Amino acid sequence: MGERKRIPCVAGNWKMHNTVAESTALVKELLPELEGISSVKSILCPPFTALNSVAKLIRESTIHLGAQNLYWEGQGAFTGEISPQMVAELAEYVIIGHSERRAYFGDTDDVVNKKVQAAISAGLQPILCVGETLEENESGRTGEVVKRQISVGLMDLSKEQMRGLMIAYEPVWAIGTGKAATPEGANQVILDFIRKEIAHFASEEISEMIPVLYGGSVKPDNAKDFFDQLDIDGALVGGASLKAEAFVQITKAAA
Ligand code: 13P
Repeated sequence: MGERKRIPCVAGNWKMHNTVAESTALVKELLPELEGISSVKSILCPPFTALNSVAKLIRESTIHLGAQNLYWEGQGAFTGEISPQMVAELAEYVIIGHSERRAYFGDTDDVVNKKVQAAISAGLQPILCVGETLEENESGRTGEVVKRQISVGLMDLSKEQMRGLMIAYEPVWAIGTGKAATPEGANQVILDFIRKEIAHFASEEISEMIPVLYGGSVKPDNAKDFFDQLDIDGALVGGASLKAEAFVQITKAAA
């Protein structure tokens, strides 16, 4: 077996779950456990309303903080939106282009690109999500879709800016369904379409250094099989990140 090239990372996308009180309770359970797993980068992505409380709780720890979205404008009359600078005051990472945003909130590839650029300008590290729907998968269009999401999503970024990126390959049909992709299949998509596409318009070196996570029904009992794949550098976990024990087990599987 080959050597792992990148530091493993497990990120929890809490989606629209957890009030401030619930977030605080979850972090208090997670903290002592995650602190002991130093070989894995842990990132928690609570809802906006809980970012501040979670930031305070993990300040002295090795755990990192991410947001789930942002708006690309710096400031102005955009009622209900959150600017990159506002996010960057609290978090280091930001999930961009999650399939739920693409499906329900009109986040096209162009919107995703604006958000990625704005996030980087504000000093945030984007976690760009890509992945095909069931229909796209069944009609053999996975490669085409993922390559477009990568090439448009990362348009006009300099090579230097790409170095801070993280990508999550999340096939839409695997999210919240309990039907995860096969580890070999996910690894192949990452290798053939994600890393190759990045190598094509950035460089081989950058493609090799960017961590690519897998997301979609990752659970304690299947996590290790994904992490055994050399091009899968960790997981973006939804449902199982809401339970301290499950998230800790997944993180341990990456260690
Ligand atoms: P599940 O782990 O609940 O399938 O969600 C994955 C996901 O969408 C993470 O961003």
